[in-house]
Amino acid sequence: MTSKIRIGALISGGGTNLQAIIDACEAGGIDARVVFVGTDNPGAKGLERARRHGIPTFVVDYAEIIRRCGQAPDALPLPADADIAAITTKQSLLGPTVPAEKKGRFVVSRVAAEARLLAEMAPYRPDLLVLAGFMRNLTPYFIDHFNIDPGFPRIMNIHPALLPAFPGVDGYGDTFRYGCKVGGCTVHFIDYGEDSGPIIGQRSFPIEEGDTLDTVKKKGLALEWLLYPQCIQWFAENRLQVVTITHTLDDGRVVQRRVVKVAQPE
Ligand code: GAR
Repeated sequence: MTSKIRIGALISGGGTNLQAIIDACEAGGIDARVVFVGTDNPGAKGLERARRHGIPTFVVDYAEIIRRCGQAPDALPLPADADIAAITTKQSLLGPTVPAEKKGRFVVSRVAAEARLLAEMAPYRPDLLVLAGFMRNLTPYFIDHFNIDPGFPRIMNIHPALLPAFPGVDGYGDTFRYGCKVGGCTVHFIDYGEDSGPIIGQRSFPIEEGDTLDTVKKKGLALEWLLYPQCIQWFAENRLQVVTITHTLDDGRVVQRRVVKVAQPE
């Protein structure tokens, strides 16, 4: 039995994954306690789930911050330690074809929001941050502040597709519309790209002829509620390690892949 870790959760919507995590913590399936639930969306229905379990909540209204940034980017309060140019270079959410001005506005608004998130989170001293249907990308500003040790990532995300297929905001929709015969969900650590971090766990399900987008989502969510608590428990048991494996291909090229190793239980 490990001691309980402190989990912070960020959500944007209904919070069924949050519920699965809270329930698993309360039932002893995860050796952890959810110490706060934060959101970018003041109307997030999942906040009510947190309140029902006596978990503190907070809102950082991203839409409002982005609107203010659009009106007067220079008036937005930015943290003193934010080097916007360096963060823009480091992030890989927006590619080289995106105009510099747009990239700059994106980074400024997100960093302003993320500084607020970090300030709200700090008093709760979370060991792990879980993104549970949090529909905002995090910049290197936030990631580097939270992942104090770069070799020990502490931000997890659940994505509704078998990554690296179908990153983005509509994983099940994209899977279904593509005509895939198999769908799934992925839990991964966050890195500087969109849904591109090292994969911790995946679950898959068949997509049959009679399936609709609705039934695909239902099948997927049911697996998410099992997969996310499982991956969090591995973290709580200190069994996860990210390793870089180097391969030399037949043509001499050297490629690297980042793999999450799950150690056997002690
Ligand atoms: C889940 O399907 C989750 O995988 C997805 O949002 C849904 C949230 O549901 N996350 C993303 O798409 C992240 N890019 P929930 O609020 O009921 O947990």
